[in-house]
Amino acid sequence: MDSFSSVQDLLAVWQPEMPVYCVYPHVYQNSTQNFINGFPGRVLYAVKSNDEPAVVRAIHRSGVTDFDCASLSEIALVSNNCPGATCYFMVPVRPRGDARMAQQQYGVRHFVVDHPKGLELLASEIDMTRSVVFARMAVHHGSAIYDLSSKFGATPEEIPGLIEAIVAYGAEPALAFNVGSSVRSPDAYRYALSLAARVLSELPIRLRLVDIGGGYPQSYPGYEMPSLDAYFCAIRQGLSDLPLADGGEILGEPGRALSAPGLSALVEVLLRKDDRLYINDGLYGVFWELRFEGHKRYPVRTYRRGELLHSHEERAFHLFGPTCDSTDRLPGAVDLPADIDTGDYLEFGHIGAYSLGGRTHFNGHFSDKIVSIDNCNELPPTERNLVPFQSLFSEQAADRLVELVAA
Ligand SMILES: Cc1ncc(COP(=O)(O)O)c(C=O)c1O
Repeated sequence: MDSFSSVQDLLAVWQPEMPVYCVYPHVYQNSTQNFINGFPGRVLYAVKSNDEPAVVRAIHRSGVTDFDCASLSEIALVSNNCPGATCYFMVPVRPRGDARMAQQQYGVRHFVVDHPKGLELLASEIDMTRSVVFARMAVHHGSAIYDLSSKFGATPEEIPGLIEAIVAYGAEPALAFNVGSSVRSPDAYRYALSLAARVLSELPIRLRLVDIGGGYPQSYPGYEMPSLDAYFCAIRQGLSDLPLADGGEILGEPGRALSAPGLSALVEVLLRKDDRLYINDGLYGVFWELRFEGHKRYPVRTYRRGELLHSHEERAFHLFGPTCDSTDRLPGAVDLPADIDTGDYLEFGHIGAYSLGGRTHFNGHFSDKIVSIDNCNELPPTERNLVPFQSLFSEQAADRLVELVAA
């Protein structure tokens, strides 16, 4: 992988025609260590949020030794890039044979189920007596932008039966839940832990492990979230009533909170038409998450001929991706220097979560150019003033937004 001391240095020697994704390892080091220091349990990185090897390696080097993997290929990736790491195969439904391969080839011992039939299938592939099997419980909370309990998860009432069946197969039973992704309120964890405490207190045995999932959010422009400390505090409070076996611990599966901060996307302005900028990445590329409910923008800064472009005058621009599809337009408008033009570059920060993994080849556009920015004094863009995107939406959509913010 090429490395540069800054994006200016990169642009001094190279004016890339394709988007370039910049990994800032020292930013990952800071954010990962902050998370590990604050979270009152074991931290498993949710690889699905960014499986770029350079990112996974940066998070591993920053102290994460455990990984929440959703597929055999994620397990292979972690095993090949992170010496000494432990992979947890934390998806309740897997392609046939993958659990067997995970255990035989990669030594995986932790799995999850949410249904008796799924347990039977798992037991036919692995040695249950050397495995820990989590029973996944569905936990809904209104503050999660993305629900993670309508597809997977047994009801709280079904959990005791599932735990009993796991014990009968000879595995160590454990409990897992996911309150959602981009969880807007720390109360979600208080609520989920109190539900878990109720379920656990009615079991005839005490469990050693409770996996409380992911969901820890990242703030984006116009999309301010509570601090991570508020989440850690809520979790600590919830833990005080959680009945666990001696030596028991909780696990967390942060994806976004670890992967978002240390990656930026450097894109070129292909054409300016008045207040419209056509750029070489879009909603079918690294910006795909902007299609969904949730944040609508990333922080951005601009470059011209290798230097940061500053301007006293700014104006709002609409950004369009490179495909022929009219929907390939970033939501909202972005305040940029008023004289920005064809051939200038934009760098979007905080773009490490749910970005690289969702790029498509639609219309033949795909960039896989990853570089490293190694000067510890260099930081990706963090914040800009942006035009409130409600103004660009229908009144109905704006009302819905107000409701969401109030909720
Ligand atoms: C099982 C599981 N764990 C963890 C995560 C990570 O969530 P987040 O990126 O919100 O922390 C997800 C996200 O989809 C998930 O499905």
